Amino acid sequence: MATFLHLLISPYSILFSLLLLLLLPFPSHSTDPSPLQDFCVADLKSPFFINGFPCKNPSDVTSNDFFYNGLANNPNNYNNLGVDLQQVTAVQFPGLNTLGISMNRVAFRPGGLNPPHVHPRASELSLVTEGKFYVGWITTNYTLYSKIVSAGELFIIPPGLIHFQLNVGEGNARFYASFNSQNPGIQIVGQALFNTTPTVLDEVLVKALQTNQTIIDLIKNKFSKINPSF
Ligand SMILES: *[C@@H]1O[C@H](CO)[C@@H](O)[C@H](O)[C@H]1NC(C)=O
Ligand SMILES: *[C@@H]1O[C@H](CO)[C@@H](O)[C@H](O)[C@H]1NC(C)=O
Repeated sequence: MATFLHLLISPYSILFSLLLLLLLPFPSHSTDPSPLQDFCVADLKSPFFINGFPCKNPSDVTSNDFFYNGLANNPNNYNNLGVDLQQVTAVQFPGLNTLGISMNRVAFRPGGLNPPHVHPRASELSLVTEGKFYVGWITTNYTLYSKIVSAGELFIIPPGLIHFQLNVGEGNARFYASFNSQNPGIQIVGQALFNTTPTVLDEVLVKALQTNQTIIDLIKNKFSKINPSF
């Protein structure tokens, strides 16, 4: 018995436990899982629902599966806030499936705003290629980090935090965002409150925003004209 207790609290067993803790995968880690093969080009037509997409038969995979020219065109699909967003996730570019990365091209007209939003499944690293932005993000203790960034400069957004970009330059502006997920997800704060199906009970919105029904109706009416899939 004494030997057993001795073993449990010996410096070796403590060291062993610490090593074990370091080697075990962190259960709270939220990035995409690692691939188990060189590639797994998404089979978007598969009837199965799994985490990600099932693989296309590797013998049907060609070089074309690893190239994508969808960002070669000029932006021409600006929304009512003056932003053209081209997402390149595993849906648009099936070769990305299981690789844990993706990209967006975000183009802005003068004054264009990418409104406060979050990517629930990814960190973001972005390169400004044209123009000038006011970029900001907000921590969970409500600190705002922000800066004016210009062409050639990078910015990062930690995972799941609210952020925005406003074109503050004279002309068009553009940045390319990269994500550590094949499917980072986008949730726009305003739409999440005012343009859901079914809608959030007005009483929730009136109380949450400390306002009245007239104001809530006004905002809801504006958001109802926005395509929620933007
Ligand atoms: C929030 O976090 C930052 C960074 O850790 C700290 O400097 C700041 O004091 C915090 N603010 C509040 C209101 O707790
Ligand atoms: C609602 O709030 C706005 C802004 O405070 C105010 O101007 C308006 O009179 C209010 N309407 C009602 C019906 O209370």
